[in-house]
Amino acid sequence: MKTPEVPEMFAVHSALPRISKWSVNVVLLAVVVGLYLIPSPIDPEPFVFEGPPPALEGPLTVNTRLQRGRRLFTGQLKGPESFTADQDGNIYTGTVDGKLWRITKDTLTFITQMGQNIPECGTSMDYEPICGRPHGLRLDQDGQLIVADSYLGLFKVNPLTGEKTLLLSNKEGANGIPFGFLNGLEISKNRTVFFTDSSSRWGRRHVRYEVIETNHLGRLLSYDPESGRVQTLLDSLYMPNGIVLSPDEDFLMMSETSIGRILRFWLKGPKAGTKEVLLNNMIGYPDNIRLSERGTFLVGITTIRFRGRLLPPFLDLIGPYPAVKRFLTKIIPLSWYNVLLPKYGLVLELGMDGEILDSLHDPDGTLTWAISDVFQQGEQYYLGSTDLPFLPVLEQWS
Ligand SMILES: *[C@@H]1O[C@H](CO)[C@@H](O)[C@H](O)[C@H]1NC(C)=O
Repeated sequence: MKTPEVPEMFAVHSALPRISKWSVNVVLLAVVVGLYLIPSPIDPEPFVFEGPPPALEGPLTVNTRLQRGRRLFTGQLKGPESFTADQDGNIYTGTVDGKLWRITKDTLTFITQMGQNIPECGTSMDYEPICGRPHGLRLDQDGQLIVADSYLGLFKVNPLTGEKTLLLSNKEGANGIPFGFLNGLEISKNRTVFFTDSSSRWGRRHVRYEVIETNHLGRLLSYDPESGRVQTLLDSLYMPNGIVLSPDEDFLMMSETSIGRILRFWLKGPKAGTKEVLLNNMIGYPDNIRLSERGTFLVGITTIRFRGRLLPPFLDLIGPYPAVKRFLTKIIPLSWYNVLLPKYGLVLELGMDGEILDSLHDPDGTLTWAISDVFQQGEQYYLGSTDLPFLPVLEQWS
């Protein structure tokens, strides 16, 4: 039996380094040229925070006060983003599969599907534009739900029958610019609906691009249900998100999520029609803002922005460099950015002028994290999220 295997293998081995060096160089060159040529999905602007994130001291001191609660409807409610309640204490919310729900104590009732009800709803973000994605919702003076669906538009929904009416479509938009990402919503005593379009460029499923790009293509708008008239109150906003009316309706507070800022927009008095910055360079990226029963503002923080031991937070680091942002979004798939997000639950309590009074923390996500809304119902606080598969309820603010 001839056994020439050994010398042949040696021959192959000795040829390998030459071949691979050459091919590695070619591949590298191809990758570099390829990366240079493929367009970036985003068109970023430089953004520099006013300073490093604030220190975790005073009212921001780390605690575990946000862990005292329980999770409801695990596996049934996915991403309850925002809440409202009727006079009988029923709670309403919308989920990532495009569905609207009523919660009565421990029972869950399906109200309607905002878009098409297909089996794929909730399985992937790609289906959101078809299935719909309800965000801000409130009851109007007739007990009808007014809902901002991120993709589809403003709707009126009968909470008992599920019958829905489109009031204003995203396609139609305002002032000739379609809506890309409807988000926060409030209704004033005279029935005016205030709402935000977070971006005319990126929809909800591309929110990471929206934040990395740090554009200012968002708007604050109002809708008059009587005349159907839409008005742009503010434009050029940085991902405007949650809004809340002050108790006297003399101003609106609004978060600009992508730059960690909270604004006040005056509705009445000598400063009516103007805006001012209440909170800047925040400890995290703010989402919805709600009024508590004790007259303070509660802010859900979607992602924290804590000082690292060695490095500043990722978005602080890349913020000033559009070329880096362009490059990173070329090579990193959207879903991978989730890896960078720590499971840290944080809510802030603010005074009338945006001063930080208190903060509740869940440092390891025992109860929840990535909080989109903090809605008080008596002693309890319902905590929203954009995609967690449960409804966390904080038993008391203590
Ligand atoms: C309705 O109320 C809001 C908030 O108080 C106010 O800004 C708006 O001007 C009012 N609209 C009308 C038509 O009175």
